[in-house]
Amino acid sequence: MTDHREKEAKYFMRTGRRMDLLAVRGQGTKIWDEAGKEYLDFFGGPATISLGHSHPVIVDALVDQAQQLIHVSNQFYSLPQLRLAELLIEHSCFDRVYFQNSGAEANEGALKLARKWGKEKKNGAFEIICAENAFHGRTLQLITASGTERYKAPFTPLPEGFVHVPFNDVDAVKQATTANTVAVFMEPIQGEGGIIVPDDDYFKKLRAWCDEQNILLIFDEVQTGCGRIGRMFAYEYYGVEPDIMTLGKGIGGGVPLSAFLAKEHCAVFTPGDHGSTYGGEPLTTRVGAEVVSYIIDNDIPQQVTKKGELVERRLHSLQDRFPNVVQVRGKGLMWAVEFKGDIGERITNAALAAGLILNNVRPNAVRIVPPLTVTEEELEQGLAILEHVIAEDAGVATK
Ligand SMILES: Cc1ncc(COP(=O)(O)O)c(C=O)c1O
Repeated sequence: MTDHREKEAKYFMRTGRRMDLLAVRGQGTKIWDEAGKEYLDFFGGPATISLGHSHPVIVDALVDQAQQLIHVSNQFYSLPQLRLAELLIEHSCFDRVYFQNSGAEANEGALKLARKWGKEKKNGAFEIICAENAFHGRTLQLITASGTERYKAPFTPLPEGFVHVPFNDVDAVKQATTANTVAVFMEPIQGEGGIIVPDDDYFKKLRAWCDEQNILLIFDEVQTGCGRIGRMFAYEYYGVEPDIMTLGKGIGGGVPLSAFLAKEHCAVFTPGDHGSTYGGEPLTTRVGAEVVSYIIDNDIPQQVTKKGELVERRLHSLQDRFPNVVQVRGKGLMWAVEFKGDIGERITNAALAAGLILNNVRPNAVRIVPPLTVTEEELEQGLAILEHVIAEDAGVATK
């Protein structure tokens, strides 16, 4: 057996704590470790393995594309990139797209676009209003846009031009708006922040304010996009159209692919403004095109809504029965269970030992973001493990 703990201690940068699991194989909602132990993966990336592990559509696309053309510079055209661009634009409210490799890169591109729009169309406005408790990525600019102080503190001085307001508070955005405000940049549901769902009318009010003030509305749909909450994109659920949207995670189903999309009126880049070596290469965009087609052709969002109802029912029953559960929240297949006290890690470790992979998204909460293709049987199985673990922790007997 590989001594992964020893190798990590010897060779790696110390950037985060890993779960004690060396994954060697994945299929659908399941992964296996070196000893052959099977786990249900309700973490999936997080929220990245949209079609499950090694879905045949993805494997076939990778093999076929690798044999034809893996990479070609963005100075040339490629068929997969053209196909994915057409799919995204024809199935969204946007007019133009640019491909990247990670969520952070897509967000960087979106913010550059907004800054240029401000320079050209709004008297040099540059300030971006973001939400407290947000997460947008790990570059210097995006830790600044994110709402978590401990991600920023070691890296000052940080880029200028970011203002933070409480999430789900339109008046706070109004008060923070100045002549310099160029955009409001938010996740439709805060993911890393602990699955925080705003009021249904929050974004409608925000959209109205942005229209009134000539401010761009940018949605970071890196986690919520591509079917995750039971709509192709979360903006559809809220009944608003942002000016710019970013995608990542699920669009690649496990390969590094992301994108930012914009309406024509703010797609102000001109040649030389932006670029990427790998962004949009044939290998990853071929997979992205297969993933997006699969989601559309099989009406995955509608299936996610149905599965989400099952999750919601089961989680609410936990809240009713166990004193250590204080809140459950989410939509579609994006959920969190919040506990009384910081027991998230204990619950996650106990679940792992019992064969269920979760993530303690906050010290006091675990997150459930299984593949969109998870079966109802697997959901029942995984949620039964979670229930058992929570009951044991609470000292309550289950049948
Ligand atoms: C909403 C959101 N935006 C951006 C990111 C950053 O994505 P990446 O890690 O691919 O850079 C994440 C990652 O968790 C995210 O949840």
